[in-house]
Amino acid sequence: MTDTVTIALSKGRILKETLPLLKAAGIEPLEDLDASRKLVFDTTLANVRLLIIRATDVPTYVQYGGADLGVTGKDVLMEHGGEGLYEPLDLDIARCRLMTAGPVGVEPPQGRIRVATKFVNLARQYYARQGKQADIIKLYGAMELAPILGLADEIVDIVDTGNTLKANGLEPRELIDHISTRLVANRASFKMKHRLLQPIIEQMGAAVQSGSNA
Ligand code: ATP
Ligand code: PRP
Repeated sequence: MTDTVTIALSKGRILKETLPLLKAAGIEPLEDLDASRKLVFDTTLANVRLLIIRATDVPTYVQYGGADLGVTGKDVLMEHGGEGLYEPLDLDIARCRLMTAGPVGVEPPQGRIRVATKFVNLARQYYARQGKQADIIKLYGAMELAPILGLADEIVDIVDTGNTLKANGLEPRELIDHISTRLVANRASFKMKHRLLQPIIEQMGAAVQSGSNA
């Protein structure tokens, strides 16, 4: 399969903004993605196919060579650890921040802190860097509920407008990192299929520069 390219895309909020960037590289799905239950799609480039999978699975597919390229959030990549991946391009979409947050007007505890998050690795690393002892509680969504119900003192989550925090009586505390969507490549594919991948990366990069993702 050295002459084919498989690209893993995150379904959900970043898919719509990814498509114009792929189009700039001449890659368009042959079917309406929304109207199909399929997970693999042929494209206008005969040797390129798209996988539509969960954002959190994209690094794993690319790491193990199930896909040559992938599109997912920097938060997901950092949580995964990035083994086996190159990150050739910042696609500059879905910009947001990874932050700690807690109940409005409440100071975080001085000693050990309980933290609810789906980013358990990132949270562990962050509190270790701060020299703070933290008990991390893994949740898969709706982290904002945890401090309200006394499950945790603080959460680590994505913040964009801050509306979700506000609507749930929380406020942002510390910035952990700025986040945006990245193009990643399998390390072996990046070398073995350079001739095929390089034009895609370059054309997507040019589209980012010219603001096609705006
Ligand atoms: P999964 O489907 O596996 O639960 P997810 O919930 O992280 O993954 P999405 O909600 O589609 O998937 O988010 C995809 C990416 O978009 C995130 O990894 C993050 O980088 C970014 N993102 C998440 N929330 C926001 C937001 N409110 N504003 C801007 N970007 C966001
Ligand atoms: C994300 C994130 C926050 C929210 C932040 O959730 O987990 O809840 O967006 O955005 P805001 O600051 O603009 O309110 P998402 O909508 O992706 O739902 P999820 O809980 O399924 O991840």
